[in-house]
Amino acid sequence: MSPGYPVETVKEGKASLLVPRLDPEAEEHIQQQRSQAPVFYNAVMKTNRDTAILALRTYQRKKSRNVQVCEPMTGSGVRGIRLLLEAGEIEDMVLGDLSPSALALAGENAELNGVRDRIKLRELDANLLMSLHSYPFGRFDYIDVDPYGTPTPFYDTAIRATKNHGMIALTATDMPPLCGVNARACIRKYGGRPLQGEFCHEVALRLLGSSFIHQAAIHGYAATPLFSYYADHYVRAYFRIDKGARRIEGQLNQVGFIKYCPGCLHRFPSMENAPERCGCGEDVNIGGPLWLGELSDVEFLDGMIDEIGNAPHLAGTKAEVIMGLARGEMGFQVSFFDIDKICKLVGVKSVSTEDAFGAIRETGFSAVPTHYRSRTLKTDASIDELVDVFNRFKNIG
Ligand SMILES: C[S@@+](CC[C@H](N)C(=O)[O-])C[C@H]1O[C@@H](n2cnc3c(N)ncnc32)[C@H](O)[C@@H]1O
Ligand SMILES: [Zn+2]
Repeated sequence: MSPGYPVETVKEGKASLLVPRLDPEAEEHIQQQRSQAPVFYNAVMKTNRDTAILALRTYQRKKSRNVQVCEPMTGSGVRGIRLLLEAGEIEDMVLGDLSPSALALAGENAELNGVRDRIKLRELDANLLMSLHSYPFGRFDYIDVDPYGTPTPFYDTAIRATKNHGMIALTATDMPPLCGVNARACIRKYGGRPLQGEFCHEVALRLLGSSFIHQAAIHGYAATPLFSYYADHYVRAYFRIDKGARRIEGQLNQVGFIKYCPGCLHRFPSMENAPERCGCGEDVNIGGPLWLGELSDVEFLDGMIDEIGNAPHLAGTKAEVIMGLARGEMGFQVSFFDIDKICKLVGVKSVSTEDAFGAIRETGFSAVPTHYRSRTLKTDASIDELVDVFNRFKNIG
């Protein structure tokens, strides 16, 4: 049945989908076209959905039982349908959306992929849908919150509609507030101050983390980040929620601040937000409160990486690259360095990525690339030590 607007068929993962056809002639207005389309579908977000499949597979491997899943803002249905086709056995899959056109298309896409009888479609506001599942036998194992902009208005109901030890994924696409372009909006939505600067995307993940951990605490749950990353102008985090006051305290004790000197690039975590002057004489900028603990769980992330072996169609994807880099970042201190920023500070012409890593490691420090951006690194060296290392490039013609 035609949905009454131009559509095309696309393939994503193991799914074939009907999605609104955008005008390829007006490529430069693609963002605007997408936001005005009768139903939302963005092929770039495949990476986001690939990680959802690997995360759910990892969760399922641990549970070894059927699971209940909800995607309360489904758009074309692509995510829920792919989860049914590419993750393990799902007993209940509830897909919701406020938009009747989205639900009609999601239904048609489910039919096209032979899973129509395995999904329940709900034309409801996401908060209402999740509230309707906030009772002991109505809760889900996994809720995937993938809204426009910020997920914060959906924290409360997502937590209430998830089982103890269940998993919640959050996507946030409102990068201007989270990266400090609109700090007041970030404080309003996430309850913390962002930090502009080279590692703002990591700060964004940490703000998302602390805001969610606080909301989970209100409901008696400790929220543990299982896998967090930044890509394609969004941040995304998977959390497990577990009941228990002691666990909650353990998480809240890891919420603090990052102090950053834009003059000399010195940065350090702090449990207080008292103003400070840096050793170089400049005042430090303070970001937070934010999550200072690990952004991923070693066992879970290793599990996701392993799952690629069981889902070979996801090998070689951007998701795999991001997961590998995020795994390498674990165990390092908060924040990361940008090679070009250090070069500018030291006053040397651009140093190749290979030479920068080589020089840091030769000096006896560890250094790993990050998933945030090319030419960035995490290291156990301080900025003063990095300046010493980079000063050596001054003497090289
Ligand atoms: C970013 S899109 C979702 C994309 C989808 N999850 C995917 O992976 O392609 C957001 C969707 O949420 C729907 N939406 C927005 N506000 C909503 C609300 N309050 N309740 C339910 N759905 C909502 C929109 O109609 C849209 O389809
Ligand atoms: Zn300084």
